[in-house]
Amino acid sequence: MSHIEFTTRSIKQAAKNPTDCAIITLGSDLKLDNTCAQLNDASDGAIKKLLALGDFKGKPGDVKILNGGGRCKRIMLVGSGRDGVSNEAATRRVIQAIYKALNGTSVTSATLHLGGFSGDKSEYAAFCTALARDLTSASYRYTKTVSKPKAPLALKKLTVNISNTLSSSKAQAALDIGAAQGKGINFAKELANLPGNECTPTHLANEAKAMAKQHPRLSTKILNENRMRQLGMHSLLSVTAGTDEPAKFIIMEYKGGKARQKPIVLVGKGITFDSGGISLKPGAKMDEMKFDMGGAASVFGTMRALLELNLNINVVALIAAAENMPSGKATKPGDVVTSMSGQTIEILNTDAEGRLVLCDALTYAERYKPAAVIDVATLTGACVVALGHQATGLYANEDKLAEQLLAAGEKTYDRAWRMPLWDEYQNQLDSNFADIANIGGPTAGSVTAACFLSRFTKNYDWAHLDIAGSAWKSAPKGASGRPVGLLTRFLMDREND
Ligand code: BES
Ligand code: MN
Ligand code: ZN
Repeated sequence: MSHIEFTTRSIKQAAKNPTDCAIITLGSDLKLDNTCAQLNDASDGAIKKLLALGDFKGKPGDVKILNGGGRCKRIMLVGSGRDGVSNEAATRRVIQAIYKALNGTSVTSATLHLGGFSGDKSEYAAFCTALARDLTSASYRYTKTVSKPKAPLALKKLTVNISNTLSSSKAQAALDIGAAQGKGINFAKELANLPGNECTPTHLANEAKAMAKQHPRLSTKILNENRMRQLGMHSLLSVTAGTDEPAKFIIMEYKGGKARQKPIVLVGKGITFDSGGISLKPGAKMDEMKFDMGGAASVFGTMRALLELNLNINVVALIAAAENMPSGKATKPGDVVTSMSGQTIEILNTDAEGRLVLCDALTYAERYKPAAVIDVATLTGACVVALGHQATGLYANEDKLAEQLLAAGEKTYDRAWRMPLWDEYQNQLDSNFADIANIGGPTAGSVTAACFLSRFTKNYDWAHLDIAGSAWKSAPKGASGRPVGLLTRFLMDREND
């Protein structure tokens, strides 16, 4: 995948800077700043002529490409509204507008003049990060299995003219953070979009090995089914019983902190296809269950961003990768299995398989004596009913951890919403034949799934992200790369703690 390169410069004379497109912002007061005035003069008054027509109001998201002037082949005028970069929702609209205006053009290099915005230093930095992240993410195209893929974005290089907003090093650092997040997001999208016949547990294991080869701070270990059996991971193994695809337990260890520093453990649900098993799903839209490794994909994406940012913390990624299929060997409703924790589970519905693979991974996580464990899973249809595709469902047994994750989500516009883990829900999981049932009845399906996981996470601070709604979209069909933004921001904040 090719990426946009983001750089900074300090340009005094905008019209003399050679570029395919000079991007300038104009607030709703429609007052031309120095840069705007220079470009207006160089283009025979093109900007003032447009404003005189009254077609451009300077609202966030208003955008027009004009003929250029001087050494700028084009001029793009983007509305920045009343509050410049201090309004996050408005800046997102500005960035989306820039992308949409550039998409389909032959602009390969562009210069964005930051000075037209009003704002303070931290707001400019946040804007640069959002710009690099969101443009990188928007430029993603799925090409792997299509003969005539959508045309790529022509843009190869975006230069930010910092004028008197930020120092060059601060602006570059902010852009680098956004570009790293964007690459992580796109890596997650790519893995999740790959069809189930390509993206098998073995494929995920190979991706992990390939990543470790390229980076000295990362090492990978893959446990096969025999090793899982020795460890007592019978809950995880019950899910893979019906498929011919071998399950893989993937371990990635990133050592960026001191040897004694406790790691953050990220756990990803990696069901590469979820047919439901013997509790077979209906046929309509069953193809979408290739996205059931979205949690694993987001953990991969976060690791990619982490490597790019080279953060000085310790992070462990655990991926429980398996395919859930029906067959004569498949697990049946009513079967009882013993999890790695020793707790027995009555499997009343083989379609509630995510929690069955996660519980053994969560028990495995204990050996790291973690600072915190965060699992990420497309766990329940009920979460989509509750929160739609906007918010990730967040559960936690520790308030500070929950707050840090919520804050990270706000900062990256990759938002989560906290859900209850009250004791009163726990008895929905009672079973007459085992310590716990794997489903909790028709009500509060996302909550009881989290309650199931909570039985395996008593020995450490833990959060669970139900991304069934946020990880992908139905129309147009595709992975969103969430919650890579949230998780990378969370890890960055932890590094600075
Ligand atoms: N992978 C699904 C959850 C899911 C559903 C994700 C729709 C994205 C969109 C999960 O394994 C599942 O099948 N959950 C069941 C649980 C039920 C059997 C208690 C569900 O949500 O129906
Ligand atoms: Mn299922
Ligand atoms: Zn599933």
